Amino acid sequence: MSRLIIEGGKPLRGSVDISGAKNSALAIVVAAALATEGESVLDNIPQGSDVATICQILEDLGVEIWYDEDRRLHVRGQTLRKHQASYELVRKMRASFYSAGLLLARLGKAEVPLPGGCAIGSRPVDFHIKGFSQLGADVVIEHGYMKAETTRLKGAHIYINRASVGTTINLMIAASLAEGTTVLENAAKEPEVVDLAIFLNGMGAKVRGAGTDSIRIDGVDQLRGIEYSIIPDRIEAGTFMLAAAITGGDVVLRNVVAEHLRVPIVKMEEAGVTVTRSGTELRVVAPERLRSVDVETLPYPGFPTDLQQPFVAAMCLADGTSVVRETIFDRFRYVDELRRMGADIKTEQNTAIVRGVPQLTGAPVEITDLRAGAALAIAALAAQGRTELYGVEIIDRGYELFEAKLRSLGANIYREQLTSPKELVTR
Ligand code: UD1
Repeated sequence: MSRLIIEGGKPLRGSVDISGAKNSALAIVVAAALATEGESVLDNIPQGSDVATICQILEDLGVEIWYDEDRRLHVRGQTLRKHQASYELVRKMRASFYSAGLLLARLGKAEVPLPGGCAIGSRPVDFHIKGFSQLGADVVIEHGYMKAETTRLKGAHIYINRASVGTTINLMIAASLAEGTTVLENAAKEPEVVDLAIFLNGMGAKVRGAGTDSIRIDGVDQLRGIEYSIIPDRIEAGTFMLAAAITGGDVVLRNVVAEHLRVPIVKMEEAGVTVTRSGTELRVVAPERLRSVDVETLPYPGFPTDLQQPFVAAMCLADGTSVVRETIFDRFRYVDELRRMGADIKTEQNTAIVRGVPQLTGAPVEITDLRAGAALAIAALAAQGRTELYGVEIIDRGYELFEAKLRSLGANIYREQLTSPKELVTR
């Protein structure tokens, strides 16, 4: 157990490298195990405990997976044998459910625990399960597990009720080795879905239309491993942009795809931030004080829900009142912690009304979920005095070298190990 200590008030300055996209990596590492020929060598894989968890799950299922000295991840799927995913591992992360698509495609059999609730509300997997049935699997839900079986998945025309990222990814993985053609209607259009499609096609799959709401997958009999480099993490990039913005900083982000951040950039510009693009770099220059901006989260290309919390944090110190509407998840629990730092935020159902205050003050706060952790850190960077962030392991799930990167930009941030309370000695 550890906590992050941040002494706020220093403008961030300098340049920082953005890591590979966690959400792409989670999908692509699983998809790599579809291959029964050769091995995949994956570059730009971000270090974080979510990626470590998906690797452990695959290893437990029999996949050979290891890092070389250049931190490239090697995946060999030939040895995939086991069709039961371990609850101990799967319970840590919802994206573990991608293993179901893999197992059905490769072994025609999957027993995967259903993900439980999480800190950003109930997150069911009913669309995934319905999709597997439509692909011809016999599915039962028993003892907290999804148990599915088929001789070989068969292509189908599937309408996804909401443009769900996870469902689109899971069904793309499953349908790649199915017999015949699958069409996913109302598919998610996120860059991570496109990244997965490019990777799958490199392996020999036939996926067309990724990035639009209709994806067509012509199933093939076999896939082979390839070398591939994951796209940059747009959410990490957006988080550092907001950290620069709230501290009155001047930061260059390296290794970004500006196009993936189109709407967040527009919103930051509305708030008075100057954003300049040059190739794969983005320079973010903050005004003395931000202006309030209204935001509504939407599926891509709309404003990402994963930046809602960091954006609200930045708006806490803006001039005026911002109205932020969250349409994807139930993601406002963290505002109680921001209030403890002096923020003026009211929430009504899925809307937060943020009145900018002249100053935030450091406080001990508890991280409730990954992006809440980023939001609290952003607020702390601009707050007066010292903030202690508890639950920092949650940040480690999805941000590589979080405090080291912030420190390289001049932030006063460090990690402190917490000693666990001594056990009582019973006599
Ligand atoms: C992914 C991202 C997450 C991001 C989210 C939305 C990963 C690992 N995680 O999560 O960072 O915030 O997309 O961009 O890539 N839903 C159902 N039933 C289902 C599936 C989804 O009702 O079977 C609902 C969800 O509760 C949510 C909405 O659909 O309200 C969208 O969720 P989805 O896009 O599936 O999010 P994830 O894939 O879980």
